[in-house]
Amino acid sequence: MNSQRPRADSAARGHIEVDCVTKSYPSVGGDIVALDQITFDVAPQELVAIVGQSGCGKSTLLRCIGGLVPPSGGSVRIAGQVVSRPDPRIGYVFQTPVLLPWRTVEENVLLPFEIGKKIVPADRKKVHDVLEMVGLGEYKHLRPLELSGGMQQRVSVARALVAEPAILLMDEPFGALDAQTREIMNVELLRIWKEAMTTIVFVTHDIGEALFLSDRVIMMSARPGTVRDIVDVNIPRPRTFTDVESDERFWTLRQKIREALN
Ligand SMILES: Nc1ncnc2c1ncn2[C@@H]1O[C@H](COP(=O)(O)OP(=O)(O)O)[C@@H](O)[C@H]1O
Ligand SMILES: [Mg+2]
Repeated sequence: MNSQRPRADSAARGHIEVDCVTKSYPSVGGDIVALDQITFDVAPQELVAIVGQSGCGKSTLLRCIGGLVPPSGGSVRIAGQVVSRPDPRIGYVFQTPVLLPWRTVEENVLLPFEIGKKIVPADRKKVHDVLEMVGLGEYKHLRPLELSGGMQQRVSVARALVAEPAILLMDEPFGALDAQTREIMNVELLRIWKEAMTTIVFVTHDIGEALFLSDRVIMMSARPGTVRDIVDVNIPRPRTFTDVESDERFWTLRQKIREALN
């Protein structure tokens, strides 16, 4: 992708403010409170991980940030503006790649440009660039079923990035991959993050993954989800798995988070 993109613009537009967000879902036995008074900020171009047990509201929180569901109370602001609907400034990557099997890799990544307008050559150029960036340049004419799980998830990342969103929301995107592929994807994600200059909110239940990737880890309590604690990950970048795993701070933080989550 074009690394010459103006920085000033991408700076402010990646700022997220989550302010007292509460979310309950109606249910026959009474409302299910999924989130209770969640408050935190994410700085432009920061990479924040959210960890917590299954069912604690991580996906709900991400959906509120992305404008996919409205909070029951509180608000989310992106670059100072309240989010009230799905927003083109935000890219989304789900746990399982949501790709159209009859379309090629290239055609899947073109999708965001087809909404409400005709494809222009500049759109194809952006698709080309983003596929290069995620390492799929050579595979653009293949169909999803001809790709491995890791490659399919790269297509999802490319599609989320192609519209140059200020923010990328990732909901356990590598959770279904084997450990080795997941490590490769984590290293790739850090490279892509640097190049695309986006803010990333990354949900995972894997503490090691959260620490490897992020600047800060937000720990959520079990349902109703609240912010239990936020820790700074003071491990220097650039990071490799070998560096991180031989860093004492990694093990100290891992222990601290594990205790906080239980
Ligand atoms: N659409 C929905 N309708 C009703 N309850 C929901 C809905 N989505 C999530 N929940 C409930 O909200 C809680 C949090 O779910 P979720 O955000 O998916 O947690 P996590 O992603 O941390 O596993 C769970 O108890 C879940 O059953
Ligand atoms: Mg979830």
